[in-house]
Amino acid sequence: MMETKKISKVDLIFEDIDPREILTRVKGMSATEIIEEVLESGLKGRGGAGFPTGMKWKFCSEEKEKDKYIVCNADEGEPGTFKDREILDRVAQKVYAGMTIAGKAVGAQTGIVYLRGEYKFLLPQLRAELEKFHKMIHELGFDFRIDFRIGSGAYICGEESALFESIEGRRGEPRNKPPYPTSSGLFGKPTSINNVETLVNSVIILKYGSEFYKKMGTQFSTGAKVFSVSGDTPKPGIYELELGMSLLEFVNEFGDGDTKAVQVGGAAGFCVPRKLFASTVIGFEGVPTGGSMKLFNSSRSMYNVLHNYLDFFNEESCGQCTPCRVGCQQLLKGVESVKRGESKSTYIDELVKLAATMKVASKCGLGQSVGNAFNSIVENFREEIIY
Ligand SMILES: Cc1cc2nc3c(=O)[nH]c(=O)nc-3n(C[C@H](O)[C@H](O)[C@H](O)COP(=O)(O)O)c2cc1C
Ligand code: SF4
Repeated sequence: MMETKKISKVDLIFEDIDPREILTRVKGMSATEIIEEVLESGLKGRGGAGFPTGMKWKFCSEEKEKDKYIVCNADEGEPGTFKDREILDRVAQKVYAGMTIAGKAVGAQTGIVYLRGEYKFLLPQLRAELEKFHKMIHELGFDFRIDFRIGSGAYICGEESALFESIEGRRGEPRNKPPYPTSSGLFGKPTSINNVETLVNSVIILKYGSEFYKKMGTQFSTGAKVFSVSGDTPKPGIYELELGMSLLEFVNEFGDGDTKAVQVGGAAGFCVPRKLFASTVIGFEGVPTGGSMKLFNSSRSMYNVLHNYLDFFNEESCGQCTPCRVGCQQLLKGVESVKRGESKSTYIDELVKLAATMKVASKCGLGQSVGNAFNSIVENFREEIIY
């Protein structure tokens, strides 16, 4: 069994700090020093995939192009995630500071915040904060400007290359990879795309140092994470917790005493049943999450939960590649027919194979991750899926 940490609440993301103080220090650092500090901290991206942020910045910094971009991914489309909205609402200056630090590290002069369409209501206050921020960094001598682009409510536009397509004015469809964004991203230029929370973490690291940061979390999941807690819980909301706790610790804190499963990481994540709570670590060495933690108690039908996720993927698949476009439809139709008793219960095993094929044959993370929820629900709650 993997080692787990006790549950530990921290208050760093929303802590009230003066970005001028950190940026003054950053101004005196070289790009290499910034990247080294972030690499040393072990910070991994908070958008879901968990790529080491320092490595991303290093790759982008090594590109020889003059024009480069920092993109802040504020699309936040994963079902059950609402922490980036809160971060932007409460500490926008720290998000801008993170973008400026990233800009200095990779050698970019332009930053773009791609804001989820449903968060448009935040725009007036974000623009007002940005005006103050631009004035401050101008005084400090930074050559960096930030602007906004607004999404239109498509989940796929949170995928980095579909997001670039959307900004460039085309349909939000993922690109082939490679090339990766650090060499050819927005407008074909080297781009570092980072989640809102990742950028604020870089500010924390630059303020307190990588040694302090590494003391939180575990060897493979350093630092803390903002969790969006929802579902059958008496305490729905936003919580910043050190990574590495067991799911049992989490459920003891946030459950209603009758939790039968937790969907960790949204529709793209895994459904963990009660019997695995104690042995499941929340972190990159166990079940990673972009923040979504949805609790289900015994009143919930796991068939309905699964149906809901499949419906979501069916709706949100961009349709560009066959394994995902047709696979999503077939998984949905398949569980419906098993539930109605029109297909034998063993048909589920065929659907599990289809989900496995989608994982290897789909073009982007959407189609590749449909099997996570599908397999973990049918494996653990088969009796609820069949007729
Ligand atoms: C379908 C899909 C949707 C995604 N949506 C988001 C999103 O809303 N926000 C986000 O930060 N990353 C999202 N990602 C991950 C991004 O592609 C990318 O990995 C991330 O922005 C990188 O930032 P990070 O390294 O700071 O995590 C999504 C990926 C996929 C496949
Ligand atoms: S996997 Fe799905 S969402 Fe991704 S490119 Fe293919 S069809 Fe589009």
